[in-house]
Amino acid sequence: MSRNVIITGASGGLGEALAREFVRRGYHVGLMARRADRLEALAGELRRSGVKVEVGVVDVAQDSTVHAAVDALRERLGGLDIFIANAGITAVNRTGSGDISKDKQVMAVNFTGAIASLDAAAKHFRAQKRGRLVGISSIAGIMPIPGSGTYSASKAALSMWLRAARIELAKHGVGVTAIHPGFIRTELVPGMEKYPFVIEADAAARAIVDAIEAGKDNLIVPAWPWKYLLPIARLLPERLAGKLF
Ligand SMILES: NC(=O)c1ccc[n+]([C@@H]2O[C@H](COP(=O)([O-])OP(=O)(O)OC[C@H]3O[C@@H](n4cnc5c(N)ncnc54)[C@H](OP(=O)(O)O)[C@@H]3O)[C@@H](O)[C@H]2O)c1
Repeated sequence: MSRNVIITGASGGLGEALAREFVRRGYHVGLMARRADRLEALAGELRRSGVKVEVGVVDVAQDSTVHAAVDALRERLGGLDIFIANAGITAVNRTGSGDISKDKQVMAVNFTGAIASLDAAAKHFRAQKRGRLVGISSIAGIMPIPGSGTYSASKAALSMWLRAARIELAKHGVGVTAIHPGFIRTELVPGMEKYPFVIEADAAARAIVDAIEAGKDNLIVPAWPWKYLLPIARLLPERLAGKLF
């Protein structure tokens, strides 16, 4: 049986680490993002492991182009078993700045772009009556980050979408995994060092691929301490919980 996975946001950070981990486990991989040069360089390197690696250049914020891009990449891979909506951006915006252009772009990539790409994969999964959709949300979708309200909202929206999709698609043989990372050292934000409990992208990728292979519905990564801290933080007064970030 083929084991084919497509990952958006695979030109760096967590997406690249996920691609490397899937290839290490013998999967054929489809890499999606905007920067073709980085995707091609990674694909060239990964192909040396003997697996099939295909590239699909896409801007997920251009949501009307996403279905065709996913269809074409799936075709070149020769099928699809797992789809990971990982592409994401963040933005810090002072509330009251009078400019929500960055916020709109965050929603266009993290929410609309993610659901457009998941929807494209779901079409095939429903037809073949199997497959797994994976969304990379964030602990910010559970506990808001002050100054990144729209990032937090985009992830909360994605998490809720994934929950609804899981219930809807179960009878079609399609699984849905929601990933809630804490802080991972990537290019997402400069100065990641100042955030608590930072882990490396390859360690996060190993835990995520384990959860996908085990068919888990949810994963918080790293589990320690967030799995235990988040339920407590929810009970704290908001101002105190906000200091966690
Ligand atoms: N790092 C963390 O601490 C952390 C924590 C929680 C959640 N996450 C989530 O994890 C995911 C990966 O983030 P990361 O930390 O690996 O960030 P990253 O290093 O900045 O990588 C982001 C990836 O998304 C791609 N991307 C951005 N905009 C895109 C667009 N419009 N269309 C297609 N691809 C796009 C980028 O590629 P191109 O620029 O080539 O398009 C890049 O490959 C994101 O969803 C992020 O929100 C990260």
